Amino acid sequence: MLSARSSMAQSDQATGIQNQKVLGFPNGFLWGTATSSYQVEGAVNADGRGPSIWDRFAHTPGAISDRSNGDTATDHYRRYKEDIRLMKALGAKAYRFSIAWPRVFPQGVGSPNPKGLDFYNRLVDELSANGIEPFATLYHWDLPQALQDRFGGWTSRDTSKAFADYAAHVTARLSDRVKHFFTINECSRLVHLGHGLGADAPGLKLPQSGLNQVRHHVALGHGLAVQAIRAHGRAGTRVGPAENAVSCIPAIETPANIHAAEIATRELNAGYLTVMMEGKYPEAHLARAGNNAPKFTADDLRVISSPIDFVGLNVYTPDHYVVAADNERGFSLAPFPASFPHMKASWLRPGPEAMYWVPRHVAKLWNVKSIYITENGTSASDQPAADGTIYDVDRIMYLRNYLTQLQRATSEGVPVLGYFLWSLMDNFEWSDGYEQRFGIYHVDFDTKRRTPKLSASFYRETIARNAVA
Ligand code: BGC
Repeated sequence: MLSARSSMAQSDQATGIQNQKVLGFPNGFLWGTATSSYQVEGAVNADGRGPSIWDRFAHTPGAISDRSNGDTATDHYRRYKEDIRLMKALGAKAYRFSIAWPRVFPQGVGSPNPKGLDFYNRLVDELSANGIEPFATLYHWDLPQALQDRFGGWTSRDTSKAFADYAAHVTARLSDRVKHFFTINECSRLVHLGHGLGADAPGLKLPQSGLNQVRHHVALGHGLAVQAIRAHGRAGTRVGPAENAVSCIPAIETPANIHAAEIATRELNAGYLTVMMEGKYPEAHLARAGNNAPKFTADDLRVISSPIDFVGLNVYTPDHYVVAADNERGFSLAPFPASFPHMKASWLRPGPEAMYWVPRHVAKLWNVKSIYITENGTSASDQPAADGTIYDVDRIMYLRNYLTQLQRATSEGVPVLGYFLWSLMDNFEWSDGYEQRFGIYHVDFDTKRRTPKLSASFYRETIARNAVA
């Protein structure tokens, strides 16, 4: 009788089918998970924290679909040690968290609240003790409400300046242990959803001119913070944005469509990555804005384009482009047909190729040498099966496909150094409240109990192999 092993070898020989190809990542590739302060911390009144615009917004009737708020969220503020154990169980090497500005400066400016920063000191120390590298985001949308009341928030450049002062304060105190800082998470969403559509805090629906001015102040805040971090950080402190660039992918990978997608990337991100990388707003962008264009000085542009060390990219949905047949811009958007699939969240249309093209465009257009994928993940319905396990195979399918495209990018030399899965655990998903679960750990929001989903095993296996599992 043949042993099982030799019969397998024989049948391999018989069929000619080769062993599975290993989709490996570069040595030292950094695997991590991500969260943000208001979405996980809870403890909104603890230790002198001031209110943020998200506290105010979430408590506004009709703002959050399930009428919830982040008052307790996942209680990460008190359970951070347990959460670091969850990261460790995955084998994760890095954690991207955000610092709540109103914990550090309850009034946004003026006297700092040392107890607020103490939490992040404890968090960073616990991460370091567990061999997990801290990556801190300075602003993930929880602006101190006092700045909204006093200056009108990002409608005023006073907020951009206050952001730099806060960034300086934090960097001076954490950069002995935190070497990577992200300035602002997703400038484009905070501008568009928070100040255009009114769907995120502070819930404004500004006219186009006001919206364009907010966009400029946010970009200016990024640049001023880069300078403050450089001035106050210890040697070796690195800084960059974490942006959800419009993801332009060629609908079919022909040279003409690829070129169209590149032009689209530069133009459609004009007020964000393009101005940060080039120090100017493209002419066509300003011409299209006409009288609604933002007011700015040449010095503003120099500040906004202060040199950065890396670009962080949040990658979720794609937009498909083809070379333009009928316009001067050189690209046309191929609209989503009604039949295009989506994940549990209807806005989350999967496009794994975005994970290949977005970092590739960014590296090529602006000669960027270091990129981190600062977010990628999906919500899912996450129903426990009869045995109690959450078999979230839709999330695994999504992650496997995106990671396969990321591996395609790194194997071609696109300089992506790390990947932060969104999210470590279910959390407060902004205006969707607790109805959209993005975690690879399930959270019971009544008891705050954390339980791994099947996707946690998938991610652990991927990290262990340093290859797509
Ligand atoms: C944000 C996260 C959010 C995630 C899923 C990103 O836009 O940075 O805070 O939870 O997408 O919607």
